[in-house]
Amino acid sequence: MRVRTAETYKTEEERVSITEDLKPTPVAISGVRGGPDVHTLRKDRWWLVPTLTVLGLTAFVAYSAWAALVNKDYYSAPYISPFYSPCIASNCTYQQLPIIGTWWKISPAILVLVFPLGFRLTCYYYRKAYYRSFWWAPPACAVADARPRYTGETRFPLIWQNIHRWFFYFGVIFVVFLAIDAVRAYDFPNGWGMGLGSLILTVNVILLGLYTFSCHACRHLCGGQMDQFSKHPVRYKLWSGVSRINERHQLFAWMSLFFVAFTDLYVRLVASGTIHDPRFF
Ligand code: FES
Repeated sequence: MRVRTAETYKTEEERVSITEDLKPTPVAISGVRGGPDVHTLRKDRWWLVPTLTVLGLTAFVAYSAWAALVNKDYYSAPYISPFYSPCIASNCTYQQLPIIGTWWKISPAILVLVFPLGFRLTCYYYRKAYYRSFWWAPPACAVADARPRYTGETRFPLIWQNIHRWFFYFGVIFVVFLAIDAVRAYDFPNGWGMGLGSLILTVNVILLGLYTFSCHACRHLCGGQMDQFSKHPVRYKLWSGVSRINERHQLFAWMSLFFVAFTDLYVRLVASGTIHDPRFF
């Protein structure tokens, strides 16, 4: 890089102006964001991704809230909707693990959805997605924040995002239950077989498994807090495997989000008699 000396500036004003431009932008956690006074200098469609994110997440939240509250058409042997699994209330259509007594009168989905919801809400990728698209903090690279102050995740309530690792543990338990559901989806009342629903429940658990095990907390659990990989070959192998799928965590986040809603919809349509489940054998 060519360094300009004092003699190479045409005037003192030019030297001062260029030196001013080179001053670092003051950015501080819990402080006031600096930067130019214009909203952005970007000319591309930077708003497209935040807009699509708002539409995608809003559609998913609206559908899943309706599906969880409607409390019917979530089971058609041998398929159960992932929104209602594991069904742990006594008022479930399909008794899986009835540990909650008859005093529970409303939808059993509410008892379980809080865990996958917490897992997604505190996910590192989703945080970026909804901080950018809903809060505009900031909406995109090199675009100013909607608000002048930035406190990050240093205060209540966002400091609670740090419990993500605990939600990861619950996420793993849910993947185990959904894997059991996927195996049961081949066990029809008249014997073992395969329908379209069996395949859908299988793809659903694969995508949710990829999303769950590509989690950053999982990667840290496998390879974190260790000085030498050579002394921990098993953890190194696990960490390498998780790192490979971790690169596509965002992709798995969206694929699993839409597919879990699609799986619920499919089971719902079959259970309500709207469509017929094709049986391959
Ligand atoms: S970082 Fe996304 S699920 Fe953990």
